[in-house]
Amino acid sequence: MNTIDYLRISLIDKCNFRCQYCMPEDQELNYLLQQDFLTKEELLTLVKKVFIPLGFTKFRLTGGEPLLRPDLVDIIQEINSFPATKDISLTTNGYLLAHQAQSLYNAGLKRINISLDSLDETTFDQIIGNHGKSRWQQTWLGIQKAYEVGFNPLKLNVVIIPGINDHEILDLAQLTIYKNWHVRFIEFMPIGNGELFNQKAWIPSAEIRQKIRERWGLEESNIKGNGPADVFKIPHGKGTLGFISQMSECFCDRCNRVRLSADGWLRPCLLNETGQLNLKEALREKESIDLIKKKVQDLLLLKPEINFKERYSGVKGSYDRTMSQIGG
Ligand code: GTP
Ligand code: 5AD
Ligand code: SF4
Repeated sequence: MNTIDYLRISLIDKCNFRCQYCMPEDQELNYLLQQDFLTKEELLTLVKKVFIPLGFTKFRLTGGEPLLRPDLVDIIQEINSFPATKDISLTTNGYLLAHQAQSLYNAGLKRINISLDSLDETTFDQIIGNHGKSRWQQTWLGIQKAYEVGFNPLKLNVVIIPGINDHEILDLAQLTIYKNWHVRFIEFMPIGNGELFNQKAWIPSAEIRQKIRERWGLEESNIKGNGPADVFKIPHGKGTLGFISQMSECFCDRCNRVRLSADGWLRPCLLNETGQLNLKEALREKESIDLIKKKVQDLLLLKPEINFKERYSGVKGSYDRTMSQIGG
């Protein structure tokens, strides 16, 4: 059985982008109210008294957009101060990063994953939704700043959507030739915007790899992350190419993570809620830490049987929550 030692914590369900594949502009979303959020204190209690004693050592902060959370720096500092913490990382869209990168780094964050679906302003703006002035420059500045400040590894997440940004596969892959960055192609999943998915479909990682192989060649890399990505590199390139292939090659068997949503739901899988627990309610109802720990432990024992495959074999039907609500 895999060791489950990686907790992905969504800090907020809101986002300052409205990516077409995640939370399209025409979709009404019911955002959480202030009282629904786990407070910083509740979150830290859970990390310190429940997850760390159960063997968790790796924590990733996600959203929505986690840089919108005002107490982000304090949360990082606190989690980083726990002796058991081996890894703390963040997934962001990068738009607010230019201003915050240094303080996040100083707080103890060393690893960051940034979404970047296009190198072209018009395509980028088309993907992230209409916000008036283009947001590409500011996002790119955020990526540059994160690199300058010293985040290493620096990973860029790309979701390729046929007919929208598939013409940029080689341009995005090329970034890894000159920079020590890790570009990861994530297969488009039917969550968030099922209509776009049905309309455009998705490109299997193998096809993307083939395109890159034909242009530059491709070799397997010995650098492996914590996560589901298969890692390759362009010969003599400085960075790597990752492929997250949850549609074409189920990686549930090596899954090492569970997810905590901003309103305190602990879910065993991105796409399967079997056995989910509301830890915020448990804390507010003054359940003992021992009882909460026991419930979480039971969920972890069930985890190998709860996975993504089940969703896609049609057992549970389509998925109606967005990544911003689940926490990527
Ligand atoms: P590290 O390897 O620790 O850097 O993290 P990561 O790649 O898991 O983190 P990131 O937040 O960048 O995740 C990238 C994307 O991978 C997510 O948004 C999902 O699309 C996908 N992904 C991550 N974990 C899972 C998972 O457990 N199941 C599925 N189906 N997809 C996942
Ligand atoms: N399919 C694949 N990846 C998605 N993300 C959000 N929605 C989807 C989807 N439907 C990814 C983003 C970001 C991460 C947090 O989740 O690209 O990198
Ligand atoms: Fe885009 Fe991430 Fe925001 Fe979703 S949560 S709209 S993928 S930036």
